[in-house]
Amino acid sequence: MEMVNRPRRLRSCDTVRRLCRETRMSPDSFIYPIFVEEGLSGKTPIESLPGQYHWGLDCLCEAVKECLDAGVRSCILFGLPLHKDSVGTSAWVENGIIQEAIRTIKAAYPDFYVITDVCMCEYTDHGHCGALCGHTVDNDATLELLAKVAVSHARAGADMVAPSDMMDGRVGYIRDALDEKGFKDVPIMAYSAKYASAFYGPFRAAAGSAPSFGDRRGYQMDMHNRREALYETELDIEEGADIIMVKPALSYLDIIRDCREAFDKPLCAYSVSGEYAMIKAAAAAGLIDEYRVMCESAVSIFRAGAGMLISYYAKELAGAVRKGDIG
Ligand code: PBG
Repeated sequence: MEMVNRPRRLRSCDTVRRLCRETRMSPDSFIYPIFVEEGLSGKTPIESLPGQYHWGLDCLCEAVKECLDAGVRSCILFGLPLHKDSVGTSAWVENGIIQEAIRTIKAAYPDFYVITDVCMCEYTDHGHCGALCGHTVDNDATLELLAKVAVSHARAGADMVAPSDMMDGRVGYIRDALDEKGFKDVPIMAYSAKYASAFYGPFRAAAGSAPSFGDRRGYQMDMHNRREALYETELDIEEGADIIMVKPALSYLDIIRDCREAFDKPLCAYSVSGEYAMIKAAAAAGLIDEYRVMCESAVSIFRAGAGMLISYYAKELAGAVRKGDIG
């Protein structure tokens, strides 16, 4: 029998398999989410996210050191404020938890890249992502608040801001505000295709940001829609987004691929809390091999077209890349 094509030739040993990998990533590809809690001293484990912590300002630099030791050079910050009100004032005050966290990190690790999540839901007493008008979030009134938050983060030294609120027009509005205040070089990573997702559950428990009534379907995207993701992303790019994002990741790999093919902007994916928690829970039940499932999930997201990944496994993934298990 004459058989010319034998794909198995390139699978015969680890070295040739690694040579032929089509999907590459590096420790630089990962962004680690850090939760900072106002008034906390030390760190406390987050029940809904095993292996993750709420960090007090006094030990926040430990979290950064762990990242750097693992080869992860950037984070995205989420804040838990002591005080909440109807418009989320604590989100933009000069000595707010995120503003202080940025200063704390930058004082010790000026080169560690700090991205901030720009949203109101952790700061409003109703848990929605903006100011309310009756029972809906008032889009245009919220833009003003988001701009204040973004500018306050930039002023405290944030390297990049990442609006996750899904208000219409927010990227352009934030861009204008940053430019006007002298932060023209601070990039915007836009949560462009952010779906209304049940996969955010563990995050909301961790960040205390679940809406007290209703849900976020009035502003986050409907999971059935694919073309709309391109529309949302195009709008963000027109408004000045430097990096675009798809979120969640695993259930939206088609959207990641669509965005990769349609746009030339750097593309980030956010592997959200529910994705992480499911792997943790299945592993804890002895059902799967945590390390290998973590690796396979991350590779699938890059294979779909992401160029960078926000993940609660960022440190472990960077380790896996360093070992050559992936990437
Ligand atoms: C803030 C925000 C959320 C997440 C990131 N930024 C929650 C939400 O939109 O309800 C979710 C992240 C995760 O689940 O890991 N709006």
